[in-house]
Amino acid sequence: MLADDHLGRARERLEQPLPDCYFAAFDKVERDGNLTLVVAEDKAGRVVGCLQLCILPGLSSQGASRGLIEDVRVASNRRSRGIGEQLVQWAVGEARARDCKLVELLTHHTRVDAQRFYERLGFAKSHVGMTIRF
Ligand SMILES: CC(C)(COP(=O)(O)OP(=O)(O)OC[C@H]1O[C@@H](n2cnc3c(N)ncnc32)[C@H](O)[C@@H]1OP(=O)(O)O)[C@@H](O)C(=O)NCCC(=O)NCCS
Repeated sequence: MLADDHLGRARERLEQPLPDCYFAAFDKVERDGNLTLVVAEDKAGRVVGCLQLCILPGLSSQGASRGLIEDVRVASNRRSRGIGEQLVQWAVGEARARDCKLVELLTHHTRVDAQRFYERLGFAKSHVGMTIRF
């Protein structure tokens, strides 16, 4: 799913066997209590969606933690059936339960459908996202 669009194709390496970097990254995520990788499964147990929730402790706003939602994907043949909404609502609820005062995310400026999706779920275009890639 991470490789299954024009942006992901340029970033990911979808090969068999999967490159070691993905297994090493999975181990890092699994060991870090502030990171949660979540998948959605259909009734047959097939993975049809995923996201990562990061809990970021910080000093500002009186020491508020924030939730960062990353890598939201739903399998292309399962979109527009509410799976993405369930995943994101879960992440927002989990961030609240873990005492975060806000939840933020970045979405590529070309992903206009995704922006509509997040706005429907209550997210506002409040900041300009900036990145440096190494
Ligand atoms: C964005 C995405 C996670 C939403 O999941 P979903 O299960 O389709 O979402 P829901 O069924 O809860 O909501 C449907 C809404 O998602 C958005 N959506 C649907 N297909 C989409 C697609 N191919 N790409 C981006 N957004 C899409 C639309 O806003 C849609 O609303 P609409 O029916 O009014 O057009 C999913 O479509 C997806 O994986 N898209 C491609 C990758 C992506 O853009 N991820 C977000 C990166 S920040």
